[in-house]
Amino acid sequence: MRVLGIESSCDETAASVVGPSGVLSDVVYTQTVHQEYLGVVPELASRAHAEQVVAVTRAALDRAGIGRPDAVAATAGPGLIGAVLVGLSFAKSLALGWGVPFIGVNHLEGHLLSPLLDDPAPDFPFLALVVSGGHTALYLAQDVGNYQTLATTVDDAAGEAFDKVARLMGMGYPGGPGVDRLSRNGDPKAVPLPRPRTKTGDWSFSGLKTAVRYQVQTAGVSPGPDLAASFQAAVVDVLLRRVLRATDETGVSRVALSGGVAANSELRRVFSEHPHLETFLPPRSRCTDNGAMIANVGRLRLLRGQRDPLSISAKPSWQPGA
Ligand code: KG4
Ligand code: ZN
Repeated sequence: MRVLGIESSCDETAASVVGPSGVLSDVVYTQTVHQEYLGVVPELASRAHAEQVVAVTRAALDRAGIGRPDAVAATAGPGLIGAVLVGLSFAKSLALGWGVPFIGVNHLEGHLLSPLLDDPAPDFPFLALVVSGGHTALYLAQDVGNYQTLATTVDDAAGEAFDKVARLMGMGYPGGPGVDRLSRNGDPKAVPLPRPRTKTGDWSFSGLKTAVRYQVQTAGVSPGPDLAASFQAAVVDVLLRRVLRATDETGVSRVALSGGVAANSELRRVFSEHPHLETFLPPRSRCTDNGAMIANVGRLRLLRGQRDPLSISAKPSWQPGA
C-alpha cells in the first residue's frame, strides 16, 4: 500500500509517499515569511500552505513515480487550526476525487513513530522522547496507537526554549539550529545554569530561559558560544535524567528520539553514547516536520483496518493515542 501523507500543522508544507519498501519521496517546503517576525504568524502560515500545497504534493507524487496513491493521510492536529485545515481539506478532496481511503493523523504520533522509517528501527516497547517546538513529552510506546505518557512539560517545550534563548541572544527563528552551531565552539561548563525539576517528574523549561536572561541582562555574560553551549547542555541534561529514570520505572532501555530538537548535535551525541541506553535516531531531515512521518502513521493505521470519514474535522489539541 502506497500512502500519500500531507503535513501542514505549522510552518512546513510537506508531502511524501511511503510504501512497503519505505519512503518513496519526501518533499518539504519551509515557509520563509515568518523570519522577520521571529516566530510563526498563524494567518501567514495558512496562506503560505494554500499557495504551496498543490506544488509540494505534485512533486511528492512525481518523485515517487506514481499518479495516484492507494490512500491519503494528512495531519488533523495538533497544530495551528487554520494551517492544519489547509492540508487536511486538500487531502480529503484528493481522497474523494481518487476514490481512495482517507485517514487523519496525529502530528505527535507522526514524530513518535518516525524512528520506524529508518534502519535500524526500534521494536516495541520503546521509550519515545518527542522534543519539538510545540511539544515535549516522553511516552512508553507499546504498539501503534498504544502510548502511555510518562512525562511532559509544565510550561515551554524544549524547542520553544531554544527559540526563546536564541532570540535573547540576538539570533533569528527558528533558534535551535543557530544555538546548536554556536555551541560547537563553546564550553558547556562556562556558565552555571539550573537543572529545573518538578515534583511530578515533568519538565519545566521556562526557569532555564529566565536564568539565561539573567546571565545576559544582569550578570553581563556575553551571548556567545559559552552561554549557548551551557544552555544546550542544561536542556540535554534534564531530558537525559528523566529518560534514565523512565528506564528504571519501565525496564525498557530502547529510546527513540524525534521532533525538531532531536536534530540537536549534543542531544544526539549524549544519548547515542550513553552506556545504559539503546538509542534510535532518525536522520536530521526526519526530525523536523515532514510528510513521511504522516504517511507512515497513516499507512500503519490503514494496514490495521482503520480509516476516517471525510467528515472528520481538525483537532487543534489532539493527544496521541486518544
Ligand atoms: O518538530 P518541529 O519541526 O516542529 C514542531 O512540531 O514544533 O520542531 C521545530 C523546533 C524549533 O523549536 C527549532 O528551534 C527546533 O525544533 N530545532 C532545534 C534544532 N533544529 C530544530 N533545536 C535544537 N537544535 C537543533 N539542531
Ligand atoms: Zn512537529
